[in-house]
Amino acid sequence: MADEGIAVADRLSDLNCCIDFLDHAGKLIRVRSEVDPVFELAGIARQLEGAGCVLFEHVRGSRFPVLCGLLADRDTVGQLFGLPAPQVPFAIADAVGAWKKEPTAFAPRLLERAPANEVITAGPDLHALPIPQHALKDGGRYLDASLVVARNPLSGELNVSVHRLMVTGRDRLTFLIDPGRHLGEYVQIAEERGVALEVSICNGTGLASWFAAALPRLGDNKHHVAHHLIGRPLAMVRGQTVNVPAFATSQFVIEAEVLPGLREEEGPFGEVTGFYGGRDRRWVMQVKAITHREHPVLHTVLSGPEVWNTVGLTAEAAIYRALKARHPEVTAVFLPPGGCGFYQAVVQVDSPAPGTCQEILRDTFAAFRSLQRAVVVDRDVDIFDPVDVEWAITTRFNPDTGMLILPGEEGHILNPMVTMAEDGKSGTVTKVGMDATVPPGDEARFERVLYQPVELRDYDISGFTPR
Ligand SMILES: Cc1cc2nc3c(=O)[nH]c(=O)nc-3n(C[C@H](O)[C@H](O)[C@H](O)COP(=O)(O)O)c2cc1C
Repeated sequence: MADEGIAVADRLSDLNCCIDFLDHAGKLIRVRSEVDPVFELAGIARQLEGAGCVLFEHVRGSRFPVLCGLLADRDTVGQLFGLPAPQVPFAIADAVGAWKKEPTAFAPRLLERAPANEVITAGPDLHALPIPQHALKDGGRYLDASLVVARNPLSGELNVSVHRLMVTGRDRLTFLIDPGRHLGEYVQIAEERGVALEVSICNGTGLASWFAAALPRLGDNKHHVAHHLIGRPLAMVRGQTVNVPAFATSQFVIEAEVLPGLREEEGPFGEVTGFYGGRDRRWVMQVKAITHREHPVLHTVLSGPEVWNTVGLTAEAAIYRALKARHPEVTAVFLPPGGCGFYQAVVQVDSPAPGTCQEILRDTFAAFRSLQRAVVVDRDVDIFDPVDVEWAITTRFNPDTGMLILPGEEGHILNPMVTMAEDGKSGTVTKVGMDATVPPGDEARFERVLYQPVELRDYDISGFTPR
């Protein structure tokens, strides 16, 4: 499928094609003034968030531009996929399903030379890159939109995940590994063997590999999900100094190794929750080489809608399908921005049988473990509109009969409401479910006021432009 002259597969796998597409579609904002990567860039990006993708053309101290806001608006992501936004989660879930069914459907292509290593820098110098310092209390400059590719030391296969990486020197990074991550397992095995773990850090790879990396707990070769998403294999390029390939279309590749047994200070970092993730002694990477395109663009995200959308788009269809298998009355699932993408689900149902909603709430929590609040609403509620959902809670939720409280459940460690275990690696929280559906048999009392549907384009109206 082609749109604006650039095929979907190209705009999902190559950030340059994606930027060109957005430019043609009138969705690219160019900041031509020189901006300071320390605080100023993110300050501007925050004010422009949702208005379009922002290309910072001149970043002080670096030759390279920065792109931010690629994931801030779901309609834009939908346009890049060539799909209405609500279908994107299903495209991702279908790609996961196809990969699970046929994991070797696409033969991997390993190249010696590719766009990602058009330039091989003489000595690795992270300070030459326009890496921003985002929030005012961040502990340093952060690569926060980069994919870390590593080999499973047991199988030799690849895994890819997104990690925040703080620059602590020209060739040094500290970074965060949350509990349960494959990278954490690999580092632990390498440390037990007393060896470093080689990685390639890929920045600016495009949305197909981005979403594949953000899918948790899939394991070896999950980057093949990206192949299924675009319908052809994404090439990788051999490392210069590490035995780990990088995505061939990356804008920048930072080859590095995780140093065994070493921990250094990382954080604070303005997190997806809207709070700071604290400073602590965390894992360390030594950078061995940096390669990049001839004219690379550094990709960064702002913690907030960009991350909420990433989580929602990778999780919603999976939750929906898990629920639908047990409850045919479920019609849609949304992880709304007010729940930071991770913590709240709105589930829409059609005429549920009495008592079913409590089961649906339990199954929703089981389907996505970081959820802390779930709401079930009727078919007449727009689950994408927070006002409508709030209206349903206010007018249809009866705490005496519709509340589900689950104390002592597993919580997501970034949420400050989670009580952390002593080892700091996990935590618990009380989860709350709300049945905000019309009580069965009481439909007449809860009938929603409706007006005649009209097409405004058909009328001669001045002072108003229909969308
Ligand atoms: C923007 C963004 C930043 C992330 N930062 C981190 C991080 O710093 N540490 C971490 O452990 N997970 C982080 N994650 C989550 C993981 O990358 C993600 O869950 C991944 O799928 C884990 O892969 P795995 O299950 O194979 O370990 C981040 C995700 C996104 C989208």
